[in-house]
Amino acid sequence: SARPTIAVIGGDGIGPEVVAEGLKVLDAATGAQAFDYVHYDLGAERWQRTGEVLPDSVMAELAAADAIVLGAVGAAPGSKAIPSGLLERGLLLKLRFAFDHYVNLRPSKLYPGVTTPLSDAVVDRGPIDFVVVREGTEGLYAGVGGSLAAGTAAEVASEVSVNTARGVERVVRDAFERAQRRRRKVTLVHKHNVLTHAGGLWNRIFTAVAAQYPDVTTDYLHVDATMIMLVTDPQRFDVIVTDNLFGDIITDLAAAVTGGIGLAASANLNPSGAFPSMFEPVHGSAPDIAGQGIADPTATISSMALLLDHLGRREQAAAIEAAVDADVAQRGAARRSTSQVGDAIAARVAG
Ligand code: NAD
Ligand code: IPM
Ligand code: MN
Repeated sequence: SARPTIAVIGGDGIGPEVVAEGLKVLDAATGAQAFDYVHYDLGAERWQRTGEVLPDSVMAELAAADAIVLGAVGAAPGSKAIPSGLLERGLLLKLRFAFDHYVNLRPSKLYPGVTTPLSDAVVDRGPIDFVVVREGTEGLYAGVGGSLAAGTAAEVASEVSVNTARGVERVVRDAFERAQRRRRKVTLVHKHNVLTHAGGLWNRIFTAVAAQYPDVTTDYLHVDATMIMLVTDPQRFDVIVTDNLFGDIITDLAAAVTGGIGLAASANLNPSGAFPSMFEPVHGSAPDIAGQGIADPTATISSMALLLDHLGRREQAAAIEAAVDADVAQRGAARRSTSQVGDAIAARVAG
């Protein structure tokens, strides 16, 4: 059919619960039947049943989709049944790498009315609205390393951070392009005082790219100081560009200070369009609350706005953003179920 195809991977834990609400709101924004959804049964259960994590045949189908929606994969940390990293590496990271999702875009915004652990003095200073452009295909996630004398008292384990000039350049450039459409400031976060090789490369490329964007202000912070600034002066950030692991850590803290992990959306973008981009909440499978119908689906719903934006449906994306804003602004102490939140946001989008 002429309809775009969206591949849907609910995954583990709360993944399928939040994805159902994301699709509900996507339908409300686009009118039902705008997309063909193809659901893939992948995750811990599939692996336990069949030994398969991500079969090549599924990989080929995903590659042909127009976009991918992912809930979350992974077992409870400490699980004995599922080896740690099996699904994270074998599925999530495999998709990010194979589909060259080099821009892992993670917006953070403190919505009016949202409870935050930030002090009133900090919040009163002004709006908090920044995006982290996290490199998604390299760094310490590259899987380069190994263990010598594994299992012995003399074991030496190493994990190598891979940073290519091409890989750094393209993500830094994306951050500057994005900043031009925002408040025109890019902060590079690294730790080049210690990580002199990788940090030196990031610094040199950042400086060279910045020279081509004279209207964009630049800033540099070491990652440890960034943790301070996220809590004491988050207004200083517009666009943060950083490597894969720093970006992972920064975006959990960014989520926590802007209303919680239940609100944090993300897009794994392949800006060239050669491969499908993938949209998912920042959070994981939350095994501690899975199956109870209490997970907050807002992060997944906001990720659907990023999906629509990516597919060029800017107005429909804005409708979801406005509905989320409005819903979040009137959230009180009363607890709603996962589907109640989805219904309420879908109703706002449709109305
Ligand atoms: P997590 O994000 O799953 O959970 C951390 C805490 O946040 C938990 O207390 C959880 O209940 C809470 N939480 C998360 N999402 C929530 C939501 N929507 N509403 C309300 N509360 C929410 O992180 P974790 O516990 O470190 O990881 C659990 C599993 O998920 C691990 O196997 C991990 O590897 C995996 N993981 C997967 C992804 C992904 O697929 N993208 C991302 C992160 C973690
Ligand atoms: C995230 C997750 C993943 C990451 C894990 C599950 C591989 O924490 O999407 O933030 O580290 O990127
Ligand atoms: Mn993470």
